[in-house]
Amino acid sequence: MAAMKKRVGILISGRGSNMVSLIAAAQAHDYPAEIACVLSNRPEAEGLKKAQAAGVSTRAVDHKSFSGREAFETELDAALKSFNVDLVACAGFMRLMTADFVERWSDRMLNIHPSLLPAFKGLDTHARALAAGVKLTGCTAHIVRPQMDDGPIIAQAAVPVLEADTADTLAARVVGVEHELYPHALAMFASGRVRIDGERVLGAPVPAKPSAPLIWPPLA
Ligand code: GAR
Repeated sequence: MAAMKKRVGILISGRGSNMVSLIAAAQAHDYPAEIACVLSNRPEAEGLKKAQAAGVSTRAVDHKSFSGREAFETELDAALKSFNVDLVACAGFMRLMTADFVERWSDRMLNIHPSLLPAFKGLDTHARALAAGVKLTGCTAHIVRPQMDDGPIIAQAAVPVLEADTADTLAARVVGVEHELYPHALAMFASGRVRIDGERVLGAPVPAKPSAPLIWPPLA
């Protein structure tokens, strides 16, 4: 008998391009997760319309209509439970969460961040990467811990930084790779192929021939 698919609730705040990539990946019959719902803290988020167009249930839980973070998160938690969610995937969800909420979804909540963590946590990631002069940046899919953009790393992808880059061009190059990385990381996690061991995620299959190193600028 085929293994049960994990039911995933996606949290968004904006355009939802990573959400779209997860919804698309989950359409494959052998993908180990199905998208149970998309929730947004911003009722006007563009991503909600995209999710509806893809036939996914949506709900807006507007953080502004609650007295505080705890009340907002109680409602968010209730919404996730009402869709029988097993795993939560944050995809551009731009609200800081309380330790209590993270604890409730401990080891069951993932995030994608547009840097090679632990570098450049927080906002303005790409501008800060450019200012630091790094030659490679990228994105990280990780398990959510109470500290912002922190937690065991499931997968990372590296992207070259070009001299002509602006924060916008770099963001566009990185987000294109996020769309490949996040479905891959969610699949590894949802299938049980990887496990959390302290602060590390272990058990990913190692290919017979590992990818070539990305050296930037490239060797002559
Ligand atoms: C993505 O680049 C994601 O990595 C980032 O927000 C963007 C959302 O885009 N998330 C964070 O910075 C979390 N700290 P999207 O709505 O098109 O997926």
